[in-house]
Amino acid sequence: MYCPQFEREFYDRVYAAHLARPDHELVVNRVVLLDQMDNPAAPAYERRRLYRAALDSLLAEPLEGRSVLDYGCGPGDWGVLLATEGASVTLLDLSPVAIELGLRRARASGVADRVRGVARDASDLGCFADGEFDLVFACASLHHTLKYPAAFAELVRVIRPGGKLVLAETLGNNPLLNAARRWRARLEREPVEQGEGIVLSDAEIDLLRRHFRQVEIVPMNLLAMAKRLFRGRFTLPWVRRLLGGLEQADAWLLAWRPELKRYCGEVVITAVK
Ligand SMILES: C[S@@+](CC[C@H](N)C(=O)[O-])C[C@H]1O[C@@H](n2cnc3c(N)ncnc32)[C@H](O)[C@@H]1O
Repeated sequence: MYCPQFEREFYDRVYAAHLARPDHELVVNRVVLLDQMDNPAAPAYERRRLYRAALDSLLAEPLEGRSVLDYGCGPGDWGVLLATEGASVTLLDLSPVAIELGLRRARASGVADRVRGVARDASDLGCFADGEFDLVFACASLHHTLKYPAAFAELVRVIRPGGKLVLAETLGNNPLLNAARRWRARLEREPVEQGEGIVLSDAEIDLLRRHFRQVEIVPMNLLAMAKRLFRGRFTLPWVRRLLGGLEQADAWLLAWRPELKRYCGEVVITAVK
């Protein structure tokens, strides 16, 4: 059973650890993120293909003066990065500690004047007007909020007509990957409060198609989802060679059989309202 209070407390504890870090470690911008994606020792390395596709979608249009919502912002990397690109950013998260951390990162990155924070459950966005945002980005967070009634309707409401929703998500159409996720969660004793129970699948993509006039889907990583087995070990050259091989095999397989794309493990979705 999910409960926003437990999820909030769980993420408060996760993000509190980062508050002790010195300011220079909290700086974020495009260069820092790209460096982290290329650094096998950084957690972003594992998701580098997902993050690169998300970045391409987010930076496809100039962000100067745009009103952007980082939805379920967590430690705020993305929202602060988008502020360094000129956007006016709102960080939104259930966890007040996430917001405190995000605002500190905005100060450390020199964009405090363009970033505000709102600690709130995404199922009630009454503090925002209809169509308040030009762009909403949700990285690994929509699958957390969809389980709460009204969250999806609220998300759609706050995007202006013609505005954009970009999602970087885990894709849940593949029964084998889903079973592996469940086993991993059990083995790692992942707490239910982490709220990872729902992943985005065809049903949620259909829901998006009903509310957005244009929905572009970029699935990625089929065999390469085996990367999860090597979490924390990408500094080993043989692990990187293996991952590179799996990514190349995916490229061939998905070009040969495009219908397999829906079974990939990760996806970037760009939807225009
Ligand atoms: C997996 S984290 C992703 C964080 C961040 N977007 C990132 O990519 O690092 C999911 C986030 O969603 C937030 N969240 C979960 N349920 C929420 C809700 N109902 N309203 C707002 N945020 C929520 C959590 O607090 C958490 O920070």
